[in-house]
This record gives sequence, structure tokens and C-alpha cells, in this order.
Amino acid sequence: MVKARKSFKICVIGSGYVGLVAAACFSKLGNRVICVDKDRNKISRVKKGVIPIYESGLDKLVRDGVKKKHLFFTSSVSEGVQKSDIVFISVGTPSRDNGEADLSAIENVARYIAGHLNSYKLIVEKSTVPVQTGKKIRETIKRYSKKGVEFDVASNPEFLREGRAVNDFLSPDRIVLGVESKRAENILKALYKPVKAPVLVTDINTAELIKHASNSFLAAKISFINSVSLICEETGADIEKVALGMGMDKRIGRSFLDAGIGFGGSCFPKDVSAFIQIAKKSGVEFKILEEVKKTNSLQRRHFVEKIKEELWILRDKKIGVLGVSFKPDTDDIRESPAVDIINMLLSEGAKIKVYDPKALPKAKKILKGVTFCKNVYSTAKDADCIALLTEWEEFRNLDFKRLKLLMKYPFLADGRNFLNKDFLESLGFKYTGVGR
Ligand code: UDX
Repeated sequence: MVKARKSFKICVIGSGYVGLVAAACFSKLGNRVICVDKDRNKISRVKKGVIPIYESGLDKLVRDGVKKKHLFFTSSVSEGVQKSDIVFISVGTPSRDNGEADLSAIENVARYIAGHLNSYKLIVEKSTVPVQTGKKIRETIKRYSKKGVEFDVASNPEFLREGRAVNDFLSPDRIVLGVESKRAENILKALYKPVKAPVLVTDINTAELIKHASNSFLAAKISFINSVSLICEETGADIEKVALGMGMDKRIGRSFLDAGIGFGGSCFPKDVSAFIQIAKKSGVEFKILEEVKKTNSLQRRHFVEKIKEELWILRDKKIGVLGVSFKPDTDDIRESPAVDIINMLLSEGAKIKVYDPKALPKAKKILKGVTFCKNVYSTAKDADCIALLTEWEEFRNLDFKRLKLLMKYPFLADGRNFLNKDFLESLGFKYTGVGR
């Protein structure tokens, strides 16, 4: 007889990008999930199936979960906590000015949970937090909860990439469980049993550190290949072939060796800065990561210099920008290299037109003095340069002959080495890539 899969009563506090994906996926796995957020407007919109983020597959998961009565939304933390056995904390941990993670939301939620512990709960950190945060959560809950109430704290970091978050949650490379009791370990192992992936059980500190170290290493890999791309430009080597040759070594691997205008998003920049501060607090100067940050911001400036090299004076030159999200398949523009580059071009007096398949609503809130276009061709009209800054699939097979006729000067600056250089040059474009 097939053993019935154990289902859990789960509360997910924080229905942002991580929390909403976790809640929807846990409900798909057959658990009863209450997703909590203090933003009442967001809660009422999500209840109607209006998802605040563009993430493929998420809206269907949320709708199914709500329909099957596996997924509920509320702005009451006490309701969520008291009706659940496992409480996931997935609130934001934004960067403070010095790069440290701001943990005030985490501390606030820990105090709130403490006040509503009506039975044993397993409290799990899902947010990316500095090492030893779990210890602070445990101390806070102990201090603010009724004497004798039993609970455990654990760490279960997420490794979700925007645009593929649902897939990364349900088919991860690994599941990391940072626990301090067998009880917590058994609960989390049972919860993740339906997910086919290797499970690594560690203590809480180790699990917290795995997350920061993983993201920082991936960011370092990107800055490494970007520095190599600068050497390629000076020596006439081809960065694409260099990356290919490097990646054929299994110890290196081809992924995350794409040279371009560098990394952005709500994770890499924040996590690298946080890790540098964490190291500093432990008395370690993490010099490599300081360089990773510097290289990443220089890469954006370098791309603007390449446009200036071709156009000379940028004042009043018309530049059509394709892509403003920090990467394709998301509408997220947080820390986007494209936003930085657009602002640098504006400060040189260039006239900027922008098109992005998904991110324009968010871009309109922060980009001033640019013209927003509905498609690639209106962006290219009378342009002295087209700058491709995000490699959306729809930019791969454009009608480049038409594009060339629309432009004042057929100059294409490809910030993501996304387009076919030889083909474009055969059409008469002046093509500039990164490291090739
Ligand atoms: C990242 C991590 O991949 C994920 O595991 C973690 O949980 C959250 O942070 P995400 O920020 O969504 O995910 O995007 P990712 O696909 O990793 O790309 C991050 C940035 O690096 C993007 O701006 C992308 O354009 C850039 N990038 C990525 C490169 O410049 N070169 C590459 O080879 C890969």
C-alpha cells in the first residue's frame, strides 16, 4: 500500500518573490499553506489571482492552490502562525548603506511569532541571512515567548533564479537543511520528500553560509570572465571561445561565464556586499569580493566608453536601448546594469529611447528623461546606436535589414554578446560586443 504522503500546515511570512513561490510550491506538494504579508493591498490582489511579480508558472500554481483550498492569504501573522506547524520566514533583508543586511524585518517577525506560539512550531529561515542569524532568532523567540513553549529554529536557504523560480524550487540542484535537532531534521526531510533532489543536512550556521558563499562565488565567476573579456578586447582574442574552452573543464563548467555588462538583480549585488561585511565582522578581509564588486561596476562604465569610442560626442545623439530588466524573463529592474548604463548615457546628454518586453511599467517609475517605446522598431527610428542591454529571446531574430534602414547610423552595441556579429557586419552594421 503506498504510504500516504505526510502533509503539513505551513505558514509563509513575507509574500515577496521568495515567499510567494515557496507558498505556491508547498501548496502544490499537498500541504496547507497560509501566506502572510503586512501589505493588505498585495494580499487582496493575490487573493483575486493578481500576482505582483512576473514569474512563469506562478499564477497558475497560486490559482490552483486557492481553488483546492491548499493556499490561503492573510495579513494576520497571528492567524498564520497559530494555525501552522512550520513557519517559514521569507521577509526582505535589504542592504544597509555599509553593505550589511538589514535584519530589522526578520527580528520583528521573530518577536511576533514568539507572541503567538500556541504549540510546538518549527521556525525556518528562508530569507538570505548572515551566518548566526538563526541563533539570534532563537534567542529572540525565547525572550518574547511564554515560558516552556517548545520550538525549533532551522535554516532552509533558497537557490531560486528569477524567471525560473518555480522550476528551481520543485527541481533544485540540492536542498540544504540547517537544523539543531533531530525533530527539526525529520520534519523538513518529510516536507521535502516529494522533491527529487539530494538533501544536505548541516547545522544552522553552515546552511546560512552556504547561501552567501554560493551567490558570491557565482558573482565572482561573472566578474572573472568580464575581466578576461577586457584582455580579449586588447589582444584580439574571442571571449566566447575562451569561455567555451574554459567550460570544457568539468571543474570550471561553462555556466555563469557569459561576459557582458555584468550582474544585477536583488541578490548578487546585495549578497556580495553582505558577505564582505560578514567576513569583516569575523576579522577576515575578503579582498576577492571587493574586486568582484569593483569589476562589476567598471564593466558598465566600460560599455559606455565603447559607445563613446564609436560615436565620439554623445550629446544629442539618439540611442535606442533594448532591454532594461536585470536579465531576461523577468520584469525586475533592481540593480539592473541597464538602468545604470542608461543614466550614464543621459548624463552625457544622449537622447534615450527604451523598449523592454516586460519591465517598462517598473522602469517608468525610476527612469526620468527617456522615451519609452512599444517595440524595437520605434526604438531604432533615427537612432545613432542601438544598445542591447538585456538578452530577451525576441531580440534574437529581428528584421535587421529593416532596423538598419530605420537607423540614422547602423551601430549596434551588444552588451550581452547575444547577436550574431558576423551576420550583422555582413548587413553593414558596425557591431561592438564585449570581448569579441
Ligand atoms: C541568483 C542566483 O543564480 C540564485 O541561485 C539565487 O537564489 C538568487 O540570485 P538571479 O539573481 O535571479 O539568481 O539571476 P541569475 O540568473 O543568477 O543572474 C544574475 C545576474 O548575473 C543577471 O544580471 C545576469 O545577467 C548576470 N549574469 C549571469 C551574467 O552577467 N553572466 C552570466 O554568465 C550569468
